[in-house]
Amino acid sequence: DESKMGVKGLVDSGLTTIPPIFIHPTPTLSDLKTKPQSVVVPTIDLSGPRSTVLEQVAAASRTFGFFQIVNHGIPVQVLDRVMGSVRAFHEQPTDVKSKLYTRDLESGVIFLSNFDLFHSKAASWRDTLQIKLGRRLPKLEDIPEVIREDVVQWNLHSETLGERLMGLLSEGLGLDIDRLKNTCLDAKLMVGNYYPHCPQPDLTVGIASHSDPGVLTLVLQDHIGGLQIKHKGEWVDVKPVHGALVVNIADILQILSNDEYISVEHRVLANPSKEARVSVAVFFNPGAREALHGPFPELTSPQKPPRYRQFAHHDYMTRFYTKRLEGKTLIDY
Ligand code: SIN
Ligand code: FE2
Repeated sequence: DESKMGVKGLVDSGLTTIPPIFIHPTPTLSDLKTKPQSVVVPTIDLSGPRSTVLEQVAAASRTFGFFQIVNHGIPVQVLDRVMGSVRAFHEQPTDVKSKLYTRDLESGVIFLSNFDLFHSKAASWRDTLQIKLGRRLPKLEDIPEVIREDVVQWNLHSETLGERLMGLLSEGLGLDIDRLKNTCLDAKLMVGNYYPHCPQPDLTVGIASHSDPGVLTLVLQDHIGGLQIKHKGEWVDVKPVHGALVVNIADILQILSNDEYISVEHRVLANPSKEARVSVAVFFNPGAREALHGPFPELTSPQKPPRYRQFAHHDYMTRFYTKRLEGKTLIDY
């Protein structure tokens, strides 16, 4: 079964042209050709004065939906180690990884090539390892050994940093510091992406343009680059900064904030470099699947009526996983 061998398996088999299922439709491919704008995604120093940090976080969340953070409290050695472990996981023999292959998204540990493979028009040039964090962290013996220790560490670090960011983002909206944290209830998912060298990077993508379905996403990327966001209708590179983490506002937070913060489209180009690109994302999602979410009442008024109706996060995620990964269509329902 080809999808179990992953994209890395294909590359290792020595192919020089990509299989047709990876070739994206013409509109996607012509959109790859536009030169990225020279706008710089803000980098925020979290060790600065709190009022300054608060202002910068709120401004970036309103205008870019993305920012990078430095002096965030996680030592650079910890970042390098988790990246190294994700790389080591993906560089194991195919049969070790394919044992973790499943399309059951409820499973705590999943290796898969593209989760959107069966719904999108074309597959993407990356492999993915997904591990649940927080309350749903799998039993230790179920976490692959090459990455076990780092998953445990990353779970703790992302918890602390996530809470701090939720606090800043809440206050940036003029809300109580705990307002967002109380909505997110410790439902986190870690995703270790591996983007092997692509022999025809102008025919496919690493990850197709999408916006994230959760509340907040934290991304650690290596030095290769390729992550781009849509800003005022144009693509902008999120340039790798060693030791920094990328933070982005996801759909649910745009909705909760009644459009004060924006969840923007982003994509990753297929990797032209000989060296594989690695990224580690943590997705913060609302915990209670059945709870209803909608714009915070504190942010709505007769002058600012709610822009979204109430919905269950569970229904939202089901839509995310069964639609094509194409643009930002989910939020408009
Ligand atoms: C993503 O949007 O989840 C991919 C982030 C990345 O690999 O940089
Ligand atoms: Fe994303």
